[in-house]
Parts: sequence; C-alpha cells; structure tokens
Amino acid sequence: MSAPFVPTPREVVMEILRLAAVSSEDIVVDPGAGDCRIVIEAARQFGATGIAIEKLPHLIKHCIEHVQKHKLQDKVLIVWGDLFNFNYSIATVVTLYLGPELNEKLRPKLERELRPGTRIVSHDFEVPGWRPIKIIKVRSWKKEHTLYLYIAGQSF
Ligand SMILES: C[S@@+](CC[C@H](N)C(=O)[O-])C[C@H]1O[C@@H](n2cnc3c(N)ncnc32)[C@H](O)[C@@H]1O
Repeated sequence: MSAPFVPTPREVVMEILRLAAVSSEDIVVDPGAGDCRIVIEAARQFGATGIAIEKLPHLIKHCIEHVQKHKLQDKVLIVWGDLFNFNYSIATVVTLYLGPELNEKLRPKLERELRPGTRIVSHDFEVPGWRPIKIIKVRSWKKEHTLYLYIAGQSF
C-alpha cells in the first residue's frame, strides 16, 4: 500500500492552508510531503512551523534544496522516514494527500494522537468514518479538487 508522488498544484496548496486557517501559531505536519511544497508555503506565506515526512530520498533532496533556497531552516523540519513512525501529537494542522487506503490505515493513529482542535485537511480523499466540517471544491488548470476539513474532537 502506497501513494505515488502527485504534487498538489500551487493554487490548491494555498486553499488548503486557508481552509485550515493556518497562522504563525501553527505547527503544520504533512505526512507524505513529496517535495515539501505545503509546509514551505505554510512557513513562507503564514509564518507557521512546518514538519514534512517523506520516505523517498530524491524528494527529501528536493525538500532540502527548497528549504535552503527560501532560508527556512529554522521554520521547516524535514523527516526522512515512514509516516507511520511519527507521533502526530505535536501538530495543530495536518494535511493529507494519500489516497483512501492510507487514509484508512492512518486514521486510528491520528485518532489516538491528535489533540482536540487540531485541523486536518484531506485533498481529494475522505477519511472514512470522520465527519467533515467543511467541503470545498477548488479548480486548478488541470482539474477540480475536493478539500475536506476535519477538526479533532468534532469530526471524530
Ligand atoms: C500524493 S503525494 C502528496 C505530496 C504532497 N503532500 C503534496 O500534497 O504535494 C504522496 C506522497 O506520500 C509519500 N508516501 C507514501 N507513503 C509513505 C510513507 N509510508 N511514509 C512516508 N511517505 C510516504 C509518497 O512518496 C509521495 O511523495
């Protein structure tokens, strides 16, 4: 079970961060971060702290280069490893773009670890069994995207 690297288009990244109402107070965690674009924009545009977890070394290399280019070494932590080995209790925002199987597999861990009030935005795939607080549609040049907002303590 895996999710291939399909990057979220830039305009959709901004909508994800707006939907989660990200601010400089937030710790935004992206499990399966790809090239780290979501946490980098969270830090650049909103002053948040970002944590990116990614298993593929070539994507980790991209992440390091992008973080250095934007001088975000003190705002973005890059974790090279399996997203199931991370403890999510530090997060105030979690972004997901993983597909139905990984969402289902990650769900019990997030339910155990996330603190009440943590916002979760899932791109294109619902988290089975959770009640969305808001669902929005966003168009990119390619297609229509669906974003699901959940809040720990209200959605599950
Ligand atoms: C659809 S991409 C999303 C990338 C990024 N979050 C975005 O929205 O642009 C999913 C990413 O999850 C990573 N991934 C899949 N399974 C993983 C695992 N068990 N641990 C860490 N990363 C994983 C893949 O390598 C891929 O880069």
